[in-house]
This record gives sequence, C-alpha cells and structure tokens, in this order.
Amino acid sequence: MDYVKEIEKLKKELDVTVVGHFYQKDEVFAMADITGDSLELAKKCKADKAQNVVFCGVGFMGQSVKIIAPEKRVFMPRVACCSMAKMIDKTYFDASMDFMQKHGIEKEGILPITYINSDASVKSEVGKMGGLVCTSSNAYKIIERGLKSGKKIFFMPDRCLGQNFANEMGLRSCVIGDGQDPKECDVICFDGFCSVHQLFTPDDVAFYRNKYPEIRIAVHPECDPEVCKLADFVGSTSQLIKYVQALPKEQKVAVGTEYNLVNRMRESNTYVLSATKPECPTMNETTLQDLYECLAAIKAEKPINEIFVDEETAKYANLALERMLEVV
Ligand code: 13P
Ligand code: SF4
Repeated sequence: MDYVKEIEKLKKELDVTVVGHFYQKDEVFAMADITGDSLELAKKCKADKAQNVVFCGVGFMGQSVKIIAPEKRVFMPRVACCSMAKMIDKTYFDASMDFMQKHGIEKEGILPITYINSDASVKSEVGKMGGLVCTSSNAYKIIERGLKSGKKIFFMPDRCLGQNFANEMGLRSCVIGDGQDPKECDVICFDGFCSVHQLFTPDDVAFYRNKYPEIRIAVHPECDPEVCKLADFVGSTSQLIKYVQALPKEQKVAVGTEYNLVNRMRESNTYVLSATKPECPTMNETTLQDLYECLAAIKAEKPINEIFVDEETAKYANLALERMLEVV
C-alpha cells in the first residue's frame, strides 16, 4: 500500500491535525501538519481548530494536549512511553517529599516543578502544591518564577535538566540520594534521566574538539551537566535547529541530541556528537503504517489509542500546565 498517498487522502477527508515531534522517523515527520519542540507543540495544538489531533510522539505529549484542550479528541498512532517520564510516579513523589521533610524542609517550603516529560498523575501532584510544568525551552524562566515564591524547588524527573539550569542560574543544587544536604540547596532534583542523552560524554566533546579545533558543540539540556559545561550552546530541539541554521555554512558543529533530528539537519559540516547512534527507541516506534491505521480507524468511527485523562487528575495537571503557559 502507498501509505503516504492514503494518509494524505484521509487527512483531507477528516477534521484532523497530524502532529509530529522532531524525533519522529523522517517519513512520519514529513506527514505532520504541526511540528516543534514540546512547548511549541502544546501551544500550537491548543490554538489549532481541528477537532481531532493525531499525535506522533510519546505518551506525555498526547496527554498534555488532552489536558490543556479537553474539548479535542486526541489519538496516538502508538502510545509510546518516554522512559524518563516513567521514572517517577506518585509513590516516588511522596517518598521524595518525605526525604526533604526528614532533612528539615517543611512541605510549605517546597515548590515542585515538573519537566513536561512526566505523567499526568505527577503533573497533578505538582498542580495541587501550587507548582508548575516546564519544558527544555522555558525551564530558566519557570525556575526563576518558582524562586519568587521564596521556596526551595523540587525539580523532577530529570536530574540533568534541573542541575543544568541551576548551574546556569548560579544556584546550589543536589540530586536526591547523592549524599548532599538538601537544606543547603536551592534546587533539589529527582534522580531521573534520559537514557538517550546519557550517551553523550565529555570524551565525545574532546574527540571533536581535538579533530576540529574550531568546531562548535551544541547539546540538549537533558545531557549530563559535565557535557553541557563543555558545550558552546545548550537548547531545546527547536533552539538547536535555529542555532545550527544560523551558523555560517563552513562552520562545523557537533550536535548532542536524538539521531533523527540531527540526521535531518545534517549538512556536510554537521556531526552527531556520539559514536553510538543516539536513537530514542520509543519515538522510533511510530511507523507510517501506524499513522495510516490510526487515521483509517477514525474514519471508520472505531478509533484506536484515544487518550483519556480522568477529570480529577486533569484538573490539577492543567493548573500546573496553565501556570507554565502564563509565563511563556
Ligand atoms: P524538546 O522539548 O526539546 O522538544 O524535548 C523533548 C524531549 O523529549 C527531548 O528528549
Ligand atoms: Fe524521553 Fe529521552 Fe526519548 Fe526524549 S529522548 S522522549 S526524554 S526517552
């Protein structure tokens, strides 16, 4: 079957917008009406007019659209899970709160901030405590806003993102379980991480700098703080694309983020900052066939993989997401 032709045909027939994150396979990404980093996708979906959203990405992204635009029906060709988002749930959230309280920090003195790469149930706990969501493109502003409360920031689930922005802002940070006293810190991070961005190491940076002394290094803030400290630029997926596009053609650059995105922007002077192919396995699960089947199921009125979030969870998760959207 010519999936591309069939998908194009179904898109014309249905009241649907196809959304694709930058880490999707090229052929799936090419089918998307809306593309962007996590923040842009959330905002563009909310503003979009179509009744149905077909989201090619990972679970938390589809969930976030359903929460901020509950009037829409949201489907995912694959309900692929971001492994980082799976690292924290309510039990770990509560255990982290206990840990901080045992170290003499009152619950009232903690403001939780969750990276958008988290489940709705976690966003909901954050919303109940007056906290906010952030993405990789707005974490600086959101933490800055959080600090105005005069409270300590509990940042989850990505320890790297939390520590990278704390470093940039000159704040003291720690990771739960690293032996430091959280009372001495402004930002207390949960011990989550992205297995894809952990692939990039200071040795990779050294390798490229030795080979091409003039090279620029651009990385995503999910990379380890030791890698980010050595980089020339740290930014979200959209920010990385803009940074690379603005460089003169002859400028070499090595980029530390997911393979599909780097490969798509790869000109002769752009390199993948790792000897190991940094593919996100779950982002890569979605195929053209999945997208076709999802659209065909909507047409047949037997939809598959529709995203639902229970009312109570959605209510508080939405508070945390809306607090973010008020800032950026
Ligand atoms: P962006 O918000 O930069 O698109 O990142 C999402 C993500 O999951 C990166 O691993
Ligand atoms: Fe999650 Fe990492 Fe994949 Fe991004 S690259 S979706 S953080 S597992």
